[in-house]
Amino acid sequence: MPGRLAGKVAIVTGAASGFGKGIAAKFVEEGAKVIIADLSEDAGLKAAEDLKCTFFKADVTSRDHWQSLLNETLNKYGSLDIVINNAGATYANKPTGSVTDKDFDLVWNVNVKSVYLSSNVIVPYFIDNNRPGVFIQISSTAALRPRPGLTWYNASKGAVSIATKTMAVEYGPNQIRFNSICPVVGSTGMTHLFIGKPDTEDNRSSFVSTIPLGRPSTPADVANACCYLASDEASFITGVDLEVDGGRCV
Ligand SMILES: NC(=O)c1ccc[n+]([C@@H]2O[C@H](COP(=O)([O-])OP(=O)(O)OC[C@H]3O[C@@H](n4cnc5c(N)ncnc54)[C@H](O)[C@@H]3O)[C@@H](O)[C@H]2O)c1
Repeated sequence: MPGRLAGKVAIVTGAASGFGKGIAAKFVEEGAKVIIADLSEDAGLKAAEDLKCTFFKADVTSRDHWQSLLNETLNKYGSLDIVINNAGATYANKPTGSVTDKDFDLVWNVNVKSVYLSSNVIVPYFIDNNRPGVFIQISSTAALRPRPGLTWYNASKGAVSIATKTMAVEYGPNQIRFNSICPVVGSTGMTHLFIGKPDTEDNRSSFVSTIPLGRPSTPADVANACCYLASDEASFITGVDLEVDGGRCV
């Protein structure tokens, strides 16, 4: 059986760890050629070696890096089909009055500017070559059902979800699909920042108690949803916020 993503080329940002690494693993398993784009060189190289895919060191807040990422992808694989904007950042959960300009700039640049730059650089490639394309942003349940202490992280994910819906309607006629996935809290490199204390089962429990299915999300949960939205099975699906949240947002 050919994989569900056989013949496709995908860039996955922030795939050196966490959800992104899970997405890259699933995409490789389903037959895609995957480029991991991450700021973290050691972890990115290790992930690419583990998964037998390609690593490209990139800062998603840099236009030049996006341009190089596209060029390198085309040089190596000849085409591009899928972009997963997964890289993300947050400041540690704290009262909104004590958020600094540096905190704000971090979440806005890594979470929102990256989506702007990726579409600004890559949409013209799809349109000029008359190719269909897929963008999937890893947003968050924070965009839909925000928790306290993370105002500007939550707002950045709200911006991601709305920009994604807007581009879905704008570029639908070009057969470029834009969707967001909204995971509930998982257990990754960012979790201690969301809960504002070390990521232990005890400390996560107040977050998990609000999830009807009774557990945090996993990289595999997010990767399975991404695989569906990236595949041709979802060729009529665009502009959705797909909640991967065990019922948290109901
Ligand atoms: N963990 C959760 O509970 C949770 C819940 C909902 C949404 N999310 C979202 O999931 C996505 C993945 O995060 P994760 O939880 O796997 O965390 P993670 O820390 O394990 O992974 C984030 C990755 O992004 C990379 N990165 C950070 N800044 C970058 C930059 N400027 N350029 C390139 N790469 C950069 C990091 O090096 C890291 O590999 C994020 O967008 C996050 O907001 C996480």
